[in-house]
Amino acid sequence: MIRARITGTGSYMPEKILTNFDIEKMVDTSNDWIVARTGIEERRIAAEGEYTSDLATRAAERALEMAGVAASEIDLIVLGTITGDYPWPATACIVQKNLGADNAYAYDLSAACSGFVYALSCASDFIQSGRGKKALVLGAETLSRIIDWQDRNTCVLFGDGAGAVILEAGEEGDEDGILSSHMHSDGSYLDLLYQPGFGTRHMPNAETLEDRLPYLKMEGNEVFKVAVRSLTSVSLEALQANNLNADDVSLFIPHQANKRILEATAKRVKLKDEQVYINVHKYGNTSGATIPVAMDEAYRGGLLKKGDLVLLSAFGGGFTWGSTMIRWSM
Ligand SMILES: CC(C)(COP(=O)(O)OP(=O)(O)OC[C@H]1O[C@@H](n2cnc3c(N)ncnc32)[C@H](O)[C@@H]1OP(=O)(O)O)[C@@H](O)C(=O)NCCC(=O)NCCS
Repeated sequence: MIRARITGTGSYMPEKILTNFDIEKMVDTSNDWIVARTGIEERRIAAEGEYTSDLATRAAERALEMAGVAASEIDLIVLGTITGDYPWPATACIVQKNLGADNAYAYDLSAACSGFVYALSCASDFIQSGRGKKALVLGAETLSRIIDWQDRNTCVLFGDGAGAVILEAGEEGDEDGILSSHMHSDGSYLDLLYQPGFGTRHMPNAETLEDRLPYLKMEGNEVFKVAVRSLTSVSLEALQANNLNADDVSLFIPHQANKRILEATAKRVKLKDEQVYINVHKYGNTSGATIPVAMDEAYRGGLLKKGDLVLLSAFGGGFTWGSTMIRWSM
């Protein structure tokens, strides 16, 4: 079997930092409340005129550079996002143009916070099937543009950013690479976490704007419970499918939504604190971008070496959830 291997990672976070103290001046909240309930201290906000495609392009350039791969060698680009530059065409096509990846085909994948693990699963299947040899997989968001900055229940939680990986076909019999992917969804929870007024059901107009429908809506408390349950089950599913125990995992990189969700999940999966990568305090929830950004930071920070077992688990709107088990290749 030929496995897809990660040969480069990259990320880009916008320069502007919005702290909890800044948000205290915008809505009725406090730094203490936000830190205690979420672990978030600050988040990044894209500059005016800086779009999801720009963040994604910068992250992609860094991943290509690390892999030593030219943009023209890429066969496939998949971008997990819910905040594309336009509803269509795909923001992945804009990234393709920006990079000059003329030999790739490109599409966006809409699975909210699970967008990156879904995209990684598609690209891994593409490589394993032999259809292509090199793929660029991205998670990129400018959530600050769809946040209701008058709603304290949600505006404290999210931020902007982008992460990318390069996937390349390994050799027959290699033991490293993507070992397994397990993806799930359940559409019956749709209205616990969604953006009602940006599709064809409620077109943006004065009336829908008055009802604040173009913005992200979430029943945080309900989402929290299902998130912990789903992240736990899909992480255990990955361990079981690979005949591994929690102790075998070198690094668990979960979707970064809320520190309490990560801690509750890690405890249920029996992972120790030092096995769990957390950067939600710096960036908040950047949806599809959290996992590739965390992976890039962990690798560049010296936390990952060749042969390490890395478990990714994500949960998001849809609901969608999924896990990926990787034997690290670099
Ligand atoms: C949103 C979240 C942080 C709220 O934390 P919580 O402990 O569940 O808090 P609750 O929703 O029960 O709200 C408790 C109180 O805090 C208040 N509150 C909500 N946001 C607040 C804020 N920013 N500042 C101060 N108070 C706030 C609520 O109004 C509520 O007040 P009430 O009891 O008077 O009604 C938490 O539910 C969460 O993280 N949910 C999941 C989010 C997530 O992961 N989403 C994406 C999945 S990918």
